[in-house]
Amino acid sequence: MRAPWRHRHLLDVDGLGREELTDILALARDMAAARAAGTAAGPLSGRIVATVFAEASTRTRISFEIAAHALGAETVTMEAASSSLSKGESLIDTMRTLHALGVSIVVVRHPRSGAPYLAAQHFDGHVINAGDGWHAHPTQALLDLYTLTDHLGPDRVAGAKLAIVGDVFHSRVARSNLWSLTTMGVDVWLTGPAEFLTGFGDLARAWAGAGDRRLTVTDSLHEALRGSAAVMALRVQRERLTGSAPTESAYAGVWSLTEERLAASCPDAIVMHPGPVNEGVELPPDVVAGPRSVISEQVANGVPVRMAVLALVAGTDA
Ligand code: CP
Repeated sequence: MRAPWRHRHLLDVDGLGREELTDILALARDMAAARAAGTAAGPLSGRIVATVFAEASTRTRISFEIAAHALGAETVTMEAASSSLSKGESLIDTMRTLHALGVSIVVVRHPRSGAPYLAAQHFDGHVINAGDGWHAHPTQALLDLYTLTDHLGPDRVAGAKLAIVGDVFHSRVARSNLWSLTTMGVDVWLTGPAEFLTGFGDLARAWAGAGDRRLTVTDSLHEALRGSAAVMALRVQRERLTGSAPTESAYAGVWSLTEERLAASCPDAIVMHPGPVNEGVELPPDVVAGPRSVISEQVANGVPVRMAVLALVAGTDA
């Protein structure tokens, strides 16, 4: 039995407990089954969903649009460069404008951390965060959890070891995943060049002293990979790098998840990546396209997961 959904917006996964995360995955599985059978209902019929993207996206925006259509909604797309945001209109004015046009759900991606929170304060409907700066990417974390659960089975998620490798510091995907994975009892290990792990050792120490979240930070790729059931590679985010950072070839020489490294440390691990992948940097092409890779499944799972999120937030004013 699902507990009543109580969140008007989805801004991050940090406020979701294990039961709520499990309920979202269960609803997403129902959505996937209904979609495959051609029996998906139209709970968003008559609603307008706006995707407001002030930063580039392929997977997130398109899967939100497919998900909204599958639920019977109309969709409109607003890209910053071709909207009045480029003429100086504020995000607050944009929210008021979209409400006046009858939009009931806004999906926001923005380069500034916190922008969807501001939007939520000024929008008389529902806001879903599609990625804000370095801060959060909640639906990516949910689809990652869905994919992990598919592969391990629901009873093997708690206690499983998962390594996150690479540019954690600039990654909203990693920050949201840290909340949802540790809430579900996953034993999370972070590794990468020291400048990509800044502050996360402090977080691991803080969590070790309070509660039961399991987080380890190490500078050893082998230690992080050893015995992992899943490995999540992160994109080196060139567009966000400001100070010193390894060159692509220097990074790949130490941190690229080659088949040899994976086979030596975690022979049965699946390989995840939120995309887009810098092939040859964080992952070689043979691993991206190889049997361990679940990257295409992650992309596909974005649709039912986003269907579930859209239906849940919209249901809070039913
Ligand atoms: N993973 C992800 O957010 O991809 P896009 O930037 O293509 O949406």
